[in-house]
Amino acid sequence: MTTVYFDNAATTQMRDEVINRMTESMRINFGNPSSIHSYGRQSKAVIENCRKSIASHFNVSASEIVFTSGGTEADNLILRSAVRDLSVKEIITSKIEHHAILHTVEALEKEYGISVKYVNLKPDGHIDYSHLEDLLNSENKQLVSLMHINNEIGNKLDLLVVANLCKNNNALFHSDTVQSVGHYQLDLMKTPIDFLAASAHKFHGPKGVGFAFIRKNSGIKGSIFGGEQERGYRAGTEAIHNIVGLDEALKLSYTNLDIERDYILDIKTYFINTLQDVFPDVVFNGSCSDSENSTYTLINVCLPIAAEKASLLQFQLDLKGIACSKGSACQSGSSQNSHVLSEILDDEHLKRPSVRFSFSRFNTKADVDYVIEVLKAFV
Ligand SMILES: Cc1ncc(COP(=O)(O)O)c(C=O)c1O
Repeated sequence: MTTVYFDNAATTQMRDEVINRMTESMRINFGNPSSIHSYGRQSKAVIENCRKSIASHFNVSASEIVFTSGGTEADNLILRSAVRDLSVKEIITSKIEHHAILHTVEALEKEYGISVKYVNLKPDGHIDYSHLEDLLNSENKQLVSLMHINNEIGNKLDLLVVANLCKNNNALFHSDTVQSVGHYQLDLMKTPIDFLAASAHKFHGPKGVGFAFIRKNSGIKGSIFGGEQERGYRAGTEAIHNIVGLDEALKLSYTNLDIERDYILDIKTYFINTLQDVFPDVVFNGSCSDSENSTYTLINVCLPIAAEKASLLQFQLDLKGIACSKGSACQSGSSQNSHVLSEILDDEHLKRPSVRFSFSRFNTKADVDYVIEVLKAFV
């Protein structure tokens, strides 16, 4: 049976090179990195070399990279510590952030009584920068948390504009870059961002590992207490093989970035054009059809399908071996509307089925042709 994996924003297939390096590491680096004997020292050296190599992609120092279990933990570590340790009294975010941000911010609002402001969105889901500037006018210590690439609609934030706005207004800036690390070059020497979150499984690495970038002297402290691992930010014996996998996946992503971006963008453009031929009334949610202002890795389409057929769409795609998402992966099992699409679509478009197709280097145009053939039954 033909199968097509178009759910790369949910997670990606690991590269063989990553699996090979992890396997080798599991075999060899079994010493506990906290042990002082040669086995431990060897494991410790492996971790520190990975940290150095990861930091070099972002033009930061190794001590600014803290390994975590993934994006969610990195987001939690940063936001919680900013409120607890840096006296942040106000968080400015948007209603279309990932739940790793939204639910954490809601919890902090309840636990610490901080105030939360949501920046206005334009009809295409982009941040209204002038409203952000208005919100940045406060006596309170503020932190802005805005994602670089939206995981559902692919909108791309101008990190430099937001970072400078925050800097000029004495606010801290955290960006959830889970969908952009490994897909975009980020030079943190040039962009004054305080904190980032990243996750290896979004760029052909293993699940269960990511990192937080925490700018030097930020004052952030740890949230998991125990041993001295990760300089006290996060106690617990390190998953060396996962860190090695993260390092290898990131290296390969950035080595092949230009070639793979062009390759994937070609597939995305072909998908957009073919969809428009079959469904002249298709709507591209957010600005995902605009290559300047959205990521090359996904499209989110609102299909003009009659209500009686729409309920069968997701079922039929799955039956035909096509993996894609209704909203984001976290909600694919849920019948509720996506919180992102609910913010930007009108009632009429919300009633229609929207599907996110997200791509990787492992896809081909033949995958697009197959999906289009399946979708033609719904015209
Ligand atoms: C934008 C964004 N932030 C955070 C996360 C959570 O990352 P992780 O799965 O590594 O916890 C995801 C994953 O879906 C994401 O897309």
